[in-house]
Amino acid sequence: METVPAIRISRLCKRFGTQEVLRNVSFEVPRGEIYCIIGGSGQGKSVLLKHIMRLLLPDSGDVQIDGESIVGLSLRELDEVRKKMGMVFQESALFDSMTCLENVAFGLTMHRRDLSRTQIEQIALEKLRLVGLSHVENKFPSQISGGMKKRVGIARAIAQEPEILLYDEPTTGLDPVLASSIDELILKMKKELGVTSLVITHDMSSAFRISDRILFLYGGKIHFAGTSEEIRTSVDPVLGQFVRGETSGPIPVVVEEGI
Ligand SMILES: Nc1ncnc2c1ncn2[C@@H]1O[C@H](COP(=O)(O)OP(=O)(O)O)[C@@H](O)[C@H]1O
Ligand SMILES: [Mg+2]
Repeated sequence: METVPAIRISRLCKRFGTQEVLRNVSFEVPRGEIYCIIGGSGQGKSVLLKHIMRLLLPDSGDVQIDGESIVGLSLRELDEVRKKMGMVFQESALFDSMTCLENVAFGLTMHRRDLSRTQIEQIALEKLRLVGLSHVENKFPSQISGGMKKRVGIARAIAQEPEILLYDEPTTGLDPVLASSIDELILKMKKELGVTSLVITHDMSSAFRISDRILFLYGGKIHFAGTSEEIRTSVDPVLGQFVRGETSGPIPVVVEEGI
């Protein structure tokens, strides 16, 4: 029997005005695996992710979650599908006026009328503990570091125990130590909770560390797809240029004296 992938994107096209952002993007993410999408700035990575949550609608093509097309669903039906998914936004997107605990509990408060306030708090606390942050429950986002905000964002995304996690640049702007701790967390979600993950990144060391498969988005298409090893050893010139650019780090500034 054919196994149904967690996410299936078929011939997805999206333009804004005259700008064609996605042209015929197709790929599948099997259940329980971690796929990374890499690509330069402005290549349509975030736009692609927003289609999977149906925050954007395609001009043509299809998005299926667990074999179900989400493009034509009513809002009520969409709500059911969205319960299967958690999203970690690029800028963490926490509510400034709520404590970290309230941020993590927010979705549960909205959707789980069957749970008491105490039960919701218990779940939110457990998620904060899972991301190693039980001590920040009463702090506001402005009182914690960028790395911690990302972790709170992850705790919020897993609060409703989704089957699928979508991450938009989870390690961008973090130092290497913090970045690898986020990578560990993404791997932990896979190992301990069996979650399927789609991670957008331009951090190649992170992509190499966590991916079962890497997809390179370029020119509105999946230009190359392969394992970390296949990406590393590819002779594709465009991919090579991207990977080298992202792994070589900042160009050192040479200060010339005596001029
Ligand atoms: N809602 C929108 N309206 C118009 N243009 C958009 C919108 N969202 C994204 N774009 C454009 O689509 C392109 C791809 O954006 P994005 O997916 O955010 O890139 P990235 O790969 O850096 O995440 C960019 O040129 C961006 O300006
Ligand atoms: Mg983006």
